[in-house]
Amino acid sequence: MAPSDADYELIRKLVYDCSRINLGSDKKELVAARLGKRLRSLNIADYREYCKLLKSPDGLEEVKNLIDVISTNHTYFFREEKHFEFLEQTVIKEFLESKKRAGERCLRCWSAACSSGEEPYSIAMSLALQSDVYQGFDWELDSSDISRQILERAQKGIYPEEHVSKLPQDIKRRFFQKGVGPYSGQYRIKEDIRKKIRWHNLNLFDSKWPFTDLFHVIFCRNVMIYFDRPSQEHLVNRLSKHLVPGGFLMIGHSESLSGVTHNLKALHPAIYRRPA
Ligand SMILES: C[S@@+](CC[C@H](N)C(=O)[O-])C[C@H]1O[C@@H](n2cnc3c(N)ncnc32)[C@H](O)[C@@H]1O
Repeated sequence: MAPSDADYELIRKLVYDCSRINLGSDKKELVAARLGKRLRSLNIADYREYCKLLKSPDGLEEVKNLIDVISTNHTYFFREEKHFEFLEQTVIKEFLESKKRAGERCLRCWSAACSSGEEPYSIAMSLALQSDVYQGFDWELDSSDISRQILERAQKGIYPEEHVSKLPQDIKRRFFQKGVGPYSGQYRIKEDIRKKIRWHNLNLFDSKWPFTDLFHVIFCRNVMIYFDRPSQEHLVNRLSKHLVPGGFLMIGHSESLSGVTHNLKALHPAIYRRPA
């Protein structure tokens, strides 16, 4: 069962107004496929009734569930590995060289649409490995997503074996606990890494973000693809103001900032830098 055009338009508009996720008219079937389970769990018979709920005083809370269901959460460990090479080989070295001059205590990173956690944990693993190499190198990592449900999953840091199986043995040994008994077939990120990350349920279009310090690196990957150009432009310019001068913005390799006005310098594919 798919929503009527009028019901789909209401859902589409609410999703856009809340998250800037831009569902085209061609996404009606996809929305129906993703929302069907939600309607069943609410014991709601059809989209007309669901739209009534969305328009009611309880609608504000339900829109959050709607975003949980609608958002695409596909991700995996060390996705777009060039970014991790760049982090390890360029960003950290530059940071250590300039650290004393700039009086910086630690490298600050943000995973701005972290989904189920594979991205921030990959960043954390890269940073932790480098802090073994460079004495005195410290780092902080904030991690956020609009979806409460996916953020809870990220914080738990538990993954099925098939999500971890391609990772090198030394990474698995160092950063994962292998589940036994009822947990066999699952891997959990070790506590020291989980505890080092600060998690936030954050909408990138919230009027306020909970950060006081600027970041050296922001990963905002594979999320802008869901936004229209004006929203992308607004977001990129806001993100750039949250970077230290000379800081880096990583976007997804399939995303493009062409047609978006911004003050960042394109450095490599999908890597931008705030002018110093
Ligand atoms: C495809 S995942 C990308 C995960 C990871 N960054 C990567 O590249 O693998 C997109 C994530 O963006 C989140 N998202 C969508 N709109 C958002 C918004 N307005 N604010 C914050 N996160 C948002 C979704 O909940 C989803 O988890």
